Amino acid sequence: MRILSGIQPSGEAHLGNYFGAMRQHVELQSRGQGIYFIADYHSMTSVRDAEERRRLVRELVLDYLACGLDPRRSILYRQSDLPETCELAWLLTTVTPLGLLQRATSYKDKLAAGLQPDHGLFAYPVLMAADILQFRSDLVPVGQDQKQHLEMTRDIAGKFNQAYGREVFTLPEPHILEEVAVVPGTDGRKMSKSYDNTLRMFWPEKQLQKAAMAIVTDSTPVEAPKDTAQALFQLWSLFASKDEREELLARAKKGGLGYGEVKKDLAERMLRFFAPMRALREDLARRPDEVEDVLRDGARRARELALETWAAARAAAGLGAA
Ligand code: ADP
Ligand code: TRP
Repeated sequence: MRILSGIQPSGEAHLGNYFGAMRQHVELQSRGQGIYFIADYHSMTSVRDAEERRRLVRELVLDYLACGLDPRRSILYRQSDLPETCELAWLLTTVTPLGLLQRATSYKDKLAAGLQPDHGLFAYPVLMAADILQFRSDLVPVGQDQKQHLEMTRDIAGKFNQAYGREVFTLPEPHILEEVAVVPGTDGRKMSKSYDNTLRMFWPEKQLQKAAMAIVTDSTPVEAPKDTAQALFQLWSLFASKDEREELLARAKKGGLGYGEVKKDLAERMLRFFAPMRALREDLARRPDEVEDVLRDGARRARELALETWAAARAAAGLGAA
């Protein structure tokens, strides 16, 4: 089974990214051939600074390797190391109905938010279809927000097969990452870098502690019973066993538990949980050549897996020499 997912390089990973996506990507490695790529072409729809893009790619690769993506088992590559994907995206563009792209909710949301749309933003799902279809991927683990893009991929694949009368592409299945893991941010909204409410697991210790102490809580006095639905308790629970969780929540409901104590303990638990990954990350960061080797080897292996589909698509469409 081929498992594929793309990850946008958009800033140092935070707890929401880890529990909502990275950890699950890492776990899926044992279920088949994992293929993970850093979507730097996609990031061009939002990031317009070349140096910044390179930096973001570097950080994300380090984050993933540190969190357990095993480059001997899985493939990790940089999207732009396979420029053929862009050619395939063109082949797919020519069979993609305009109406399909106009119905994309992520596109519509961005328009509604006042973003000046360009063709890249509009065509984003077609490039995503090319990423997926080139490997004849079976399973595509994504968050709920990407589900519609997967459906569009299936539509586009069907259109191409139909147009050229051949089963060039297989239809991938979405694997929606567990919803239970929606991680709240320090202000209680969904943790997201666009809300500036994140806890980044690889921040320097002091900064992480400071951010944990700044988690917003209500103003219930220490001795009074606490509302345990607050973000602080949800965040703390990510790093606790079931028994520990029940015990703390019981203390909170009874009264007598101060928020400061929970925040301090959360910071300690977070640091302990990520300590081995932090050490590995620091080690890798000192060896950039090795990290680049991982990407180069990943691109080589990815290319091998995609060659056949690229050729089949070109042949079906009558492109190049017969
Ligand atoms: P951000 O909201 O910070 O921009 P991204 O959209 O880059 O994060 O997130 C990449 C992936 O990480 C998403 O597809 C989603 O699966 C996961 N993710 C992000 N934030 C959270 C969160 N707060 N809770 C759970 N999963 C999240
Ligand atoms: N659009 C995805 C996101 O923002 C990233 C992505 C690009 C992707 N190509 C993909 C995900 C192919 C899965 C498969 O999260």
